[in-house]
Amino acid sequence: MGSLTGRRIVLGVTGGVAAYKAVEVCRRLVDAGAHVAPVLTRGALHFVGRATFDALASEPVQTSLWDEPHPIPHTRLGQGADLVVVCPATARLLSDYRTGRSGDLLTATLLATRAPVIVCPAMHTEMWEQPSVQENVEVLASRGVTVVGPEDGRLAGGDVGEGRLADPATVVTAAEEVLGATRGDAGGDLAGLTVLVTAGGTREPICPVRFLGNRSSGKQGHALVAEAAARGAQVRCVTTQPGTAPAGPGIDVTAVDTAAEMAAAVIAQAVDADIVLMAAAVADFRPVEVAAEKIKKGDGPTEIILEPTVDILAELGRSRINGQVLVGFAAETRDLRQNAVAKLAAKGIDLIVANDVSAPQVGFEHDTNAVLVMDASGGAREVSLADKREVAGVVLDAALAEHRTNRTGNGDVR
Ligand code: CTP
Repeated sequence: MGSLTGRRIVLGVTGGVAAYKAVEVCRRLVDAGAHVAPVLTRGALHFVGRATFDALASEPVQTSLWDEPHPIPHTRLGQGADLVVVCPATARLLSDYRTGRSGDLLTATLLATRAPVIVCPAMHTEMWEQPSVQENVEVLASRGVTVVGPEDGRLAGGDVGEGRLADPATVVTAAEEVLGATRGDAGGDLAGLTVLVTAGGTREPICPVRFLGNRSSGKQGHALVAEAAARGAQVRCVTTQPGTAPAGPGIDVTAVDTAAEMAAAVIAQAVDADIVLMAAAVADFRPVEVAAEKIKKGDGPTEIILEPTVDILAELGRSRINGQVLVGFAAETRDLRQNAVAKLAAKGIDLIVANDVSAPQVGFEHDTNAVLVMDASGGAREVSLADKREVAGVVLDAALAEHRTNRTGNGDVR
C-alpha cells in the first residue's frame, strides 16, 4: 500500500498561473488514495475554477474563514491534516507563512497545523531571486518545511528561467516521501492487520418507496476506515454510504442497504479479520412484510408489523475467532456509562465506544464527536469534542492494545 492511502492532505492553492498544475496534483493525490481537502486563496480563483477542484477533490473547495458552517474551519483543517501541500506557493504566501500572518483560510490553516508542510514555490525568475524571497524560503526550510522546486524552464509570458512550478509527479513523490517517513519503516502500527469497519445506517424497506432508517451519516465509520488504512491496515468497509467512503489501494468497500445484507457481508468478511469495528447504526427491527407496490394514502390506515433483525455484533461475540477484537458503538441519549457497560457484557465484546447524541456537535451527521471508550475490565477513556478522525485514532489505539493483549495475555490466544 502506498504511503498516501487514507492520509488527509490539505492542498493549498495560491494565485499564480501555475495553479492549473495543482489540478493534476489533486487528481494524482486522490488516485493514490489520499483524502484531499482543497483550500484556494482568492487569487487562485482568478486562475482556476472552483468547480474543477470540487469535482476532483475529496471535499468541496474552501476559500474563506467564513464560508462553511463549521465555526473554526482552519483548526478543523489544520488539526485533521496529515500533510499540508501548498502548490503553487506565491511570494506572498511564503512571506506570510514565514512571519506567521494569518490573513486568509490557507495561512490560518498553516498556523493551525502540526502536520508536515510542503511548499512548491512558483514565480518569475526576478521575483524568485529577490533576497527577501530567498530568505523566506531558507527560514521556512530551516524550520522543517519541505521546499519542492522551483525548476528551470518556460514561464508565463514566454520567459525562460528558474521559477517554474515543480512537475506534478515530483510534488506527489515529495508527498509520498514525507508521509512515508511519518508512517515509519514498519509501515504503520496496524501493518499486517485486517480491520473490518461498518458504517452508516441501515434502511429497512416498507414498500418500494419508503424505508425505516436512522440519522447515521457513516462519517465516524469512514473516519475509522481512513485512519486504519493510514496506519497500514488492510481495511474492509461495509457501508450503507458507499458514495462517501474513503477509497484507496488498501481499502475494500462493500455497499449494503439492509441489516440482513450487512449481517451477511460482515459475518463472511469477519472470518479472518483481526479487529471488527461495528460503527454502523443497524436497525433492530424490520417490517415483516415489504409491500410489493407503493402504499397509497387512499389505502387507509396501515399497520406495519416489525420483527427483530440479527444482532450482528452479538453473533460475532458468540462465534468469536481466536484473538479477534470486537468493538461496539452505542449512541445514547441518557445513562451513557450504564448503557455502555450493559452492552459490552450483553454482546460479549472487548470495547464499546459510547456517545451522547443529544449533546451539541456530537454524533449523527456532525464532523465532530465526543466519546467514552470502555473496556471489559472497567477501564474507560473519555475523548472530549474532537474531529471524528481524531476520535478514530483513539478508538484504534484502544483496539490495537486489546489485540496485543489477546495475542500475548498469558501466552494464550483467545
Ligand atoms: N448492532 C448490531 N446489530 C444490530 C444492532 C446493533 O451489530 N442488529 C451493533 C451496532 O453496530 C453497535 C452495537 O451493536 O456497534 C450497539 O448498537 P445499539 O443499537 O446501540 O445497541 P442495541 O443492542 O441495539 O441496543 P438499543 O436498545 O440501545 O438499540
